[in-house]
Amino acid sequence: MNVKEAIEKRRAFRCLEKIEINQEIITELVYYAQLTASCFNNQPWRFIFIKSEDILIKIRNAISKGNEWTFAASMIIVVITKKDFDCIINDREYYLFDTGMAVSSMILTATEMGLVAHPIAGYSQEKVKEILNIPQDFNVITLIIVGKKSDKENNGLLNEHQIEVEKKRPERLPLKNLFSIDKFEESLNISKNKI
Ligand SMILES: Cc1cc2nc3c(=O)[nH]c(=O)nc-3n(C[C@H](O)[C@H](O)[C@H](O)COP(=O)(O)O)c2cc1C
Repeated sequence: MNVKEAIEKRRAFRCLEKIEINQEIITELVYYAQLTASCFNNQPWRFIFIKSEDILIKIRNAISKGNEWTFAASMIIVVITKKDFDCIINDREYYLFDTGMAVSSMILTATEMGLVAHPIAGYSQEKVKEILNIPQDFNVITLIIVGKKSDKENNGLLNEHQIEVEKKRPERLPLKNLFSIDKFEESLNISKNKI
């Protein structure tokens, strides 16, 4: 699979079934994240791979309502980072940008491996930190929910809307609102909910 194919194939699927997570999977995911570019090669990303069933169950307490589909995760990758791990250039802080790039590499690698790797923001950062003993000065920027896409329409954890979204990729913004050439266009200055 080439990069373009992996980008096309990647979806934030929610209907998951369990797969066995071995060391090879973890090593490969970390390896391709590790190669990501970062400001001054600072590499601000850190990952905690949760694969023990008892800890996965504890993490459920931190998951927001509506994200119950995550309970079928085979693994959850907790992505943590710190502002002072990366460049700060006046008001530009690069730790989240660089960590996001590493997460993207990791998700595309997972896609090539035939896995679903779905990042979420719907969780309590405080509870995740408490469960995993993560120091307060870290930012838990996402949890990546990993599993195998189920053949079923619903594994019992999806609501009606989630079942529908599973079938078709949610629409993207029109290209004219995404880029301009040679100058700033007013069409760029509009948020998704105003289009
Ligand atoms: C930062 C971030 C947070 C997200 N949070 C959630 C979430 O809490 N729950 C959820 O079901 N999906 C979540 N998603 C998935 C998005 O809803 C999904 O990527 C988007 O609708 C586009 O669909 P696609 O990835 O299948 O193309 C999140 C994605 C990102 C990048």
